[in-house]
Amino acid sequence: MTDQVAFFNPLEDKTIGKLPDPCVLVIFGVTGDLAAKRLLPALYNLAREGQLPSHFACVGFARREKTNEQFRKEMLDDVSTYSRTQPIKEEVWSVFNEQLFYNRSEFDNDEGYKALKELLKNLDLEFGTKGNRIYYLSTPPSQFPLIIKKLHQHNLIYDEHTYPNKFSRIVIEKPFGHDLSSALALESTLELYLHEDQMYRIDHYLGKETVQNLLVFRFANAICEPLWNNKYIDHVQITVSEEDGIGTRGKLYEEAGTLRDIVQNHMMQLVSLIAMEPPVSLNANSIRDEKVKILNSIRPMTEDQIKRYAVRGQYGPGFIKGEPVRGYTQEDNVSSTSYIDTYVGLELFIDTWRWTGVPFFLRTGKRLPKRATEIAILFKELPEILFSSIIPHQNNTLVIRIQPDEGISLKFNSKIPGSSTLVHPVKMDFRYSTHFGTTPPEAYERLLCDCMLGDQTLFARKDEVLASWKIIQPILECWQTTHPSTFPNYAAGTWGPAAADHMIQQEGRFWRQI
Ligand code: BG6
Repeated sequence: MTDQVAFFNPLEDKTIGKLPDPCVLVIFGVTGDLAAKRLLPALYNLAREGQLPSHFACVGFARREKTNEQFRKEMLDDVSTYSRTQPIKEEVWSVFNEQLFYNRSEFDNDEGYKALKELLKNLDLEFGTKGNRIYYLSTPPSQFPLIIKKLHQHNLIYDEHTYPNKFSRIVIEKPFGHDLSSALALESTLELYLHEDQMYRIDHYLGKETVQNLLVFRFANAICEPLWNNKYIDHVQITVSEEDGIGTRGKLYEEAGTLRDIVQNHMMQLVSLIAMEPPVSLNANSIRDEKVKILNSIRPMTEDQIKRYAVRGQYGPGFIKGEPVRGYTQEDNVSSTSYIDTYVGLELFIDTWRWTGVPFFLRTGKRLPKRATEIAILFKELPEILFSSIIPHQNNTLVIRIQPDEGISLKFNSKIPGSSTLVHPVKMDFRYSTHFGTTPPEAYERLLCDCMLGDQTLFARKDEVLASWKIIQPILECWQTTHPSTFPNYAAGTWGPAAADHMIQQEGRFWRQI
């Protein structure tokens, strides 16, 4: 048996060989960046892999005037630029092209929804899509309630309990609210029109191959679980580091900041997956139940603790790969006196039997020296009796590289060959690309496919979203009322503010060098 055959991924296995049911996917805000860079390339790649439903059509809904032909041409340009597989296969595109349609309308215009209803009826006849719908809301979050209400008013959302043979699902993109109270308000609006099993809240980190592998790695290997606790683990470090600045997203970032943009969603997903108890099964709710328990066990911070355990930063001018780059407040559509955070460092405590006493250090920032997302598990120090005088301070470290260079490595100490007992840290390294000989599919491919299959495992549930807002909310409130006097406090191209180093060092630990 080869290694490849021996590798068994139960999450993957659920979808093997399954083709989604016929459906029409309607993308609201199809002229935006997300559709161009991620959604259409993902759909094309699903088509290329034969993973789209056999009866399928896609409708773009947006405000700009254009014909079907213009829409198709633009989509081809985008897919040609952003698809992970190149060049575009003519035989795949020619079929996919004929499945693309455009419906121009403002989001509040009833005429637009009437036209959509008519178009969908015709597509059902032409493509055999059987009344099944997925509405993807790739719009600013402020538009979500309006669009869902309009879809409901025009009878475009079926209650699956009344019409068990048809589905209508809604996909929404983060941010799910701006803070705890707006998230609660959004959820109450959604609940007026939808059941939880129709809601697909996308956090694209969950679609990343390496994030899905966290569960397999932890629970399909007998060597992990016995060590995965406060007896053996000293602390955990989670890093989401980006080289890029905020680019053209100045307006959006001014209302968000990194705590909302990355920590509340992507990082909390990573924390919950790395810390959760084994689920009783691999179904969506069993996994999500365990994740919520972890989020609910994270110790809420008081104002004094926030000062000690939460650090914010903002980049100033600096250099990335030797090229000068602007500071945050010089970016387009950003206030010159902005206090928005582009870096966050946090220390969290999870109050469970497994994790009590194990700090989780989180750091994330824009304009750091390199793009790297990883989870590092640092094991406890050795008793000093045998090798203490010759070991240069090295804990065993397990590193799960989410991206790039996806893989897992384990650092352990080894004897240097020779007559003395000199010890040196060495590394065992597993790399996806060299082992499996392929680059993993994009997160959106997996997520779109799962939504068509009706599998919610990799989507956030309402209680998960609210639980992570509860953790973040006290920090948001504290940071809103006290403005830092030191911003910008790190130069672009450096590893964040000195205060973040101080935060971890006061606990006797150090950030890993990446
Ligand atoms: C998005 C954030 O959710 O994730 C962006 O809004 C961030 O600010 C991006 O750059 C990072 O995603 P990835 O897949 O490149 O790690």
